[in-house]
Amino acid sequence: MLIQLALTGLIVALLPLSMVWVSNDSDKYRKLIWITLFLTFDLIMFGAFTRLTDSGLGCPDWPGCYGHADPIKAHADISAAEIAMPTGPVTVVKAWIEMIHRYFAMGIGVLIVAMMLISWRRWLQSKRAESKFSPTFPTFLFLFVCLQGAFGAWTVTMKLQPIIVTIHLLLGMALLALLAWYGSH
Ligand code: HEM
Repeated sequence: MLIQLALTGLIVALLPLSMVWVSNDSDKYRKLIWITLFLTFDLIMFGAFTRLTDSGLGCPDWPGCYGHADPIKAHADISAAEIAMPTGPVTVVKAWIEMIHRYFAMGIGVLIVAMMLISWRRWLQSKRAESKFSPTFPTFLFLFVCLQGAFGAWTVTMKLQPIIVTIHLLLGMALLALLAWYGSH
């Protein structure tokens, strides 16, 4: 299940990564930062959609949905929960909304990992001390997105505790601000 989830994150990131790869932009790295920023903005909106449609517990466990990588495989459990309580918290639609938010988030994670690996490679290949490609900030971004992922997990496992959801929202905004700062430097 974990491998399947990781593969889904890779597939989500494939389109933006190949867009950067084939572009004629003179600074592809900066383009990667701005595309990640644009997608993070979309993910924040999708997070709000997840919250406003009451889908936060659409899959009550983490990282999978009833222990599966997607709601198709978890269909029997989801249907049983929906029949027991038709208004939620678990319904087929809510489970999909919740899992799409997670897939999207994993895609952003992969983009940030790509950023970190590229910066480390450039730094190792250059004269390190003089290099303008310091890997420090992208490594920090990677740790930051892991923290955001952890708060995403706690949002679910602590059953939408308001303080946890609020920190998850704040960290999402902070990630957007950090990417904007990085992209404009
Ligand atoms: C880059 C990563 C992520 C970003 C930027 C992000 C952002 C957001 C935002 C902005 C919200 C809306 C909060 C609100 O309006 O109060 C949200 C909701 C939510 N997020 Fe994430 N998220 C990320 C990753 C994750 C992950 C990995 C999970 C894993 C389970 C997750 C689970 C949730 C859940 C369950 C909600 C709904 C909360 C509710 O219904 O109250 N998020 N997310």
